[in-house]
Amino acid sequence: MADPIRFLMCPPEYYDVDYVINPWMEGNIHKSSRDRAVEQWQGLYHHLKERAIVDLVQPQKGVPDMVFTANAGLVLGNVAVLSRFYHPERQGEEPHFKKWFEDNGFTVYELPKDLPFEGAGDALLDREGRWLWAGYGFRSELDSHPYIAKWLDIEVLSLQLVDSRFYHLDTCFCPLAGGYLLYYPPAFDFYSNQLIEQRVPAQKRIAISEPDAVNFACNAVNIDRVVVMNKASDELQQQLADLGFEVVQTPLTEFLKAGGAAKCLTLRVTEPIAVDVRANAIVRSRIVHLEGHLLDSGLINRALDAIVENGGSFQVLNFNLGEQRHSHSSAEVKVSATSELMLEEIVSQLIDMGAVALPQEERDAQLEPVEQAGVSPDDFYVTTIYPTEVRIDGQWVRVQKQRMDGAIAISQTADGLVAQCKLLRDLEVGERVVTGVGGIRTIRKDERDQKASQEFSFMSAGVSSERRVELVVEQVAWELRQIRDRGGKVVVTAGPVVIHTGGGEHLSHLIREGYVQALLGGNAIAVHDMEQAMLGTSLGVDMKRGIAVRGGHRHHLKTINTIRRYGSIAQAVEAGVVTRGVMYECVKHNIPFCLAGSIRDDGPLPDTEMDLLKAQTEYARLLEGAEMILMLSSMLHSIGVGNMTPAGVKMVCVDINPAVVTKLSDRGSVESTGVVTDVGLFLSLLIEQLKRLTGPYPVKVAV
Ligand code: ARG
Repeated sequence: MADPIRFLMCPPEYYDVDYVINPWMEGNIHKSSRDRAVEQWQGLYHHLKERAIVDLVQPQKGVPDMVFTANAGLVLGNVAVLSRFYHPERQGEEPHFKKWFEDNGFTVYELPKDLPFEGAGDALLDREGRWLWAGYGFRSELDSHPYIAKWLDIEVLSLQLVDSRFYHLDTCFCPLAGGYLLYYPPAFDFYSNQLIEQRVPAQKRIAISEPDAVNFACNAVNIDRVVVMNKASDELQQQLADLGFEVVQTPLTEFLKAGGAAKCLTLRVTEPIAVDVRANAIVRSRIVHLEGHLLDSGLINRALDAIVENGGSFQVLNFNLGEQRHSHSSAEVKVSATSELMLEEIVSQLIDMGAVALPQEERDAQLEPVEQAGVSPDDFYVTTIYPTEVRIDGQWVRVQKQRMDGAIAISQTADGLVAQCKLLRDLEVGERVVTGVGGIRTIRKDERDQKASQEFSFMSAGVSSERRVELVVEQVAWELRQIRDRGGKVVVTAGPVVIHTGGGEHLSHLIREGYVQALLGGNAIAVHDMEQAMLGTSLGVDMKRGIAVRGGHRHHLKTINTIRRYGSIAQAVEAGVVTRGVMYECVKHNIPFCLAGSIRDDGPLPDTEMDLLKAQTEYARLLEGAEMILMLSSMLHSIGVGNMTPAGVKMVCVDINPAVVTKLSDRGSVESTGVVTDVGLFLSLLIEQLKRLTGPYPVKVAV
């Protein structure tokens, strides 16, 4: 006959809700009735007594949650891993449980200090003994799992808990005899659900409803075919009955007030070791180094949040707080995740924030050959707008043509190895691409330093209100003046709204006065600009009187037709057909422009590039070396341009639609400024300000 099953329980002599360490305890302080608690506890005790041996541990004053013996530790064979409670309120239980384990012949393992793990509350054996399910996210740290795998010599499957009501694994997960699993899927993140589905076949998974979950139906004690729990709906009872399980309900409402029920109140201390299971530490870790104004800039919070949000966990190994306001802080953070893939995802986000590997962890970037033109090897590192370096043969090489959403291609040239950002479609056979996240670092200028040194400080990444428009205008005018005077480059992207709102003359003025070195837009801005130049309307609206003119809706097509007759905008200008406006000034002052066509375009104009790939390449070429980009009311072109532009370029985005502006300030960099206002108004203020700033200025013709 098999050895009898034993459970450990702790009488509720001192049980009460004295503090709040989980959502169930909120509002329940001293609300539970001692008498009813005792009665309910005894109910459970008797149900278990009928089917197993129940040992008792002496309750202790001052540690009311000691009734929840599931949290004493984790037992397998004659080994017990003692709990390290996350909350100080429960840490007083540890020595009592330790003593009980020792007195009862267990070999006790203890985790390092500050590495929380809450025992069988967060670690549940597959009832066949094939592996251990272990929870993390609220009470237990992922980094405790490798210890457990080693000490118990068993495969540990880590599951991330994401709903604070189900803070312990045993509140939402219950392996049953025969390989069945009772659980509440929404309590877990996506990857954990995938893992569960990989290990437990569909016909063995019993996903419960929320009403059952909040009655702690998963917090059940399973003894062979019997499942003891607080309460189960008729459906759940039926479902379990159909699978051959008998549900025993025993009310435990007094304990629910503390966030526990049947399973929490018990610890199974006879857990036989299954043959042929082997340890498998699934946790991968890497140590990264962060430096900068970690606290003031909020960088450390963002980094740690990114780790947790992506399913990982962290340990801050070292934190050196800078002593002065201007001094840097530095931190070493150990990042852990349940798979290499998850770890890479996290580390790549940290790299984007400026994290670097420690010298001893530094390695060369992993390179894989491009085998099909226009297709990268899988797992390529996706580039960002930030200056990036890759380590090749022990040397850090700066990546050229920095832009986001590309891959880093390495090619051998006459001048040595060249690393550059390339769009997938531009990858060529023979090049190699950086994969994984090793040997990559980004250089982030400290956001706070940047702010201090920048004129745009007060507007940093903000969306302004109308009252602040004038202030932004002053700043932009000042910058434009500076850039022009030092022979720098400003690129404008503009939508047709610039013309409709009467901004055409102002933009023309900017071009004429040498403030614009390239213009990017679509077919429409050019069409409406020239329509206005030739016919006085923009999309058929008389720009002087602001009313639609009869037959005006055909004006833009007539304009297109005329330009087509002349073969190009430049030729129409030379022929004296177009005598003013934005396009006119571009032609007259040799300002290059690119008009990118779209599915909507009428015509198109002969100059409009309808091959989108060519248009993108031309945009990128014209953007090279830009110091500032004025984005005037064109969501499509502005976002496109934003994607092509590396960090360090000032962007001013003007749009009446806050969504567009926000979208661009999402770059999160201090260098993008959003202005929610009418673009015509903005431009007129800008010209006024420039005039005030500069006085008459000799016309500079760009070459
Ligand atoms: N009040 C206790 C706590 O929050 C309840 C513990 C429930 N135990 C469990 N294994 N789920 O720690």
